[in-house]
Amino acid sequence: MRRHLILASLLVCWVSPAVAEEKPTYADFETNDVCAECHTDIAAQYEQSVMSKSFTHKWDEVEYYELALPHSGKDEKVAGIKGGCMGCHSPLAFITGDIPPKRPAENTRANDGVSCDLCHSITGMEGDVPFNFNFKVDGKGPKQGTREGVSSGGEHEIAVNPFLETAEFCGVCHNEKDPYDQWVKATQLEWKESPQGKAGIVCQDCHMPPAESNPAPGGDGKVHADTRQHLFNGSHDNAKLKGSIEVLIHTTTPKAKAGDTATFMATVTNAKAGHMIPSGSAEERVVWLDVVAVDAAGKKYPLAVDPKGFENEDMTIASADALAYQDLGELQGIKDFKGLERDGQVPAGDRIFRLPYLDPKGRMTVAQWNTASFGPDYRLAPLEAKNETYTWILPRGVNGPVTVTATVYYSRLVSSVADHLDIPKEEWAAVEVSSNSVTLNIPKK
Ligand code: HEC
Ligand code: HEC
Ligand code: HEC
Ligand code: HEC
Ligand code: HEC
Repeated sequence: MRRHLILASLLVCWVSPAVAEEKPTYADFETNDVCAECHTDIAAQYEQSVMSKSFTHKWDEVEYYELALPHSGKDEKVAGIKGGCMGCHSPLAFITGDIPPKRPAENTRANDGVSCDLCHSITGMEGDVPFNFNFKVDGKGPKQGTREGVSSGGEHEIAVNPFLETAEFCGVCHNEKDPYDQWVKATQLEWKESPQGKAGIVCQDCHMPPAESNPAPGGDGKVHADTRQHLFNGSHDNAKLKGSIEVLIHTTTPKAKAGDTATFMATVTNAKAGHMIPSGSAEERVVWLDVVAVDAAGKKYPLAVDPKGFENEDMTIASADALAYQDLGELQGIKDFKGLERDGQVPAGDRIFRLPYLDPKGRMTVAQWNTASFGPDYRLAPLEAKNETYTWILPRGVNGPVTVTATVYYSRLVSSVADHLDIPKEEWAAVEVSSNSVTLNIPKK
């Protein structure tokens, strides 16, 4: 035995003194199936969240293999994303050096993505600001937890580590700085400035709410009143999205008659998120406010938002003919690529709550790694309300009740980009977040 050890260490030194500290291997981490044997509910909750598909999810696969990976080989500036994307999406592949990993269909351990054992092997982070997978991880050590005095009945050791209770723990992957030094994801930084952040309400409170349950019913677990539910529900869960933004509409011209100018104001509030809406992958999310009037005969009049006059505001009002995403042509090697409809399915004249990501040539992009600057940040900050106004000259013939309805929609991916890359509809379908109406009784002449 001893001889083996000496031999092994000699070998390591001889091969390369720098690797004296062994590189982790996949074998250092258990698969989710192992944890699921005892942690049954937690595993089932996690399986339903997009967190469990961080590497295998179709759109992730397309963006990495068809856009980012080829780009990393063509442009020295972004060479680091070859491994960098995996730092958060397939951390085990990244830390074990399996770069680029095989595609999801090959069913390698890269598919584990952000796994149980990865998160529960995170012991802390490098530096003071969490970003770009700067977590410290020890796959061979005890499972990192937060509860004092529990035991796994001999299955694994447990370390009580307060880091897991902090927003910084989540921020190691939910803040991202790209090769152009831009904060292209800043969910934890946004949270820090939010009223919820200042009140000490952390990510875990909203995305892993405590409830009474046994965290290990398949093992020898005990029931706790505040077991962390592993929901990780975000924009991929319509139940989480609905009502996260609230809209109310009123009119300041209730007595308007045909031919008069009627005015309406919609108040749009980020009522539930402890960060911007949209947050995180804001380059590809589309949140918009649609306002439409319907007269007594059922005729529809779409109303366009009144511009406010801030710089580059046109990027926040849907246009029927604006083009963007021209960099996709360069990334995919398509000649004379004119770009795609900037606003996809959003009706022209609607307000879009967005942060435009701009490529090095100043055009809007969905490639967050190819972002050199930003347009105006017109997203909804936590508990912030924005007023949008609408001016409508009531048509001559209109009378009776006219109902004006304001609806907020959310789409996870610009529909024109989804069409172009053949991404399944559930990725870009419009989800109704909130809706409200006001009725105007227009007197008969
Ligand atoms: C043979 C059953 C079994 C298996 C397999 C198992 N665990 Fe556990 N684990 C337990 C039990 C039992 C507890 C204690 C639960 C309690 O009573 O609160 C526990 C507790 C934990 C805790 C402590 C959490 C805290 O703060 O209270 C963590 C973290 C954890 N397990 C992670 C894992 C991970 C990750 C895996 C897979 C690599 C895994 N476990 C596999 C049985 C198991
Ligand atoms: C006060 C509750 C609350 C807190 C605190 C909170 N969130 Fe959220 N989060 C939400 C709600 C509600 C949504 C759904 C709306 C949306 O998608 O933006 C959401 C959505 C998300 C999304 C999807 C965003 C998108 O638009 O694609 C991510 C990622 C996320 N949260 C991560 C975090 C992280 C990380 C933290 C801590 C730094 C955090 N959240 C703190 C409530 C919260
Ligand atoms: C994204 C990281 C992440 C992933 C993935 C994850 N967990 Fe956790 N888990 C946490 C955090 C953070 C906590 C503690 C939250 C707190 O106490 O504030 C936790 C808590 C737990 C607990 C203790 C629950 C309690 O309140 O007693 C168990 C057990 C556990 N996790 C097991 C698992 C298993 C099994 C999986 C995979 C099916 C898993 N976790 C996946 C981050 C994660
Ligand atoms: C190791 C990296 C990592 C850590 C740590 C991490 N996440 Fe994530 N998280 C991801 C990735 C990658 C995704 C995107 C999955 C995908 O590809 O769609 C994600 C997705 C999510 C989503 C779903 C967003 C949506 O659009 O529906 C929520 C919510 C979320 N994370 C919350 C958290 C919270 C809360 C924590 C801390 C307790 C946390 N995450 C810690 C990497 C991480
Ligand atoms: C610092 C960690 C980190 C890095 C690096 C990173 N991502 Fe992500 N990625 C995330 C998180 C967290 C989310 C989920 C955010 C949200 O839902 O708002 C996400 C979301 C995505 C999504 C959207 C998933 C969906 O279902 O809507 C795609 C696609 C994606 N990433 C691809 C990439 C590619 C390609 C790269 C490399 C160029 C990359 N990511 C680099 C953390 C990261």
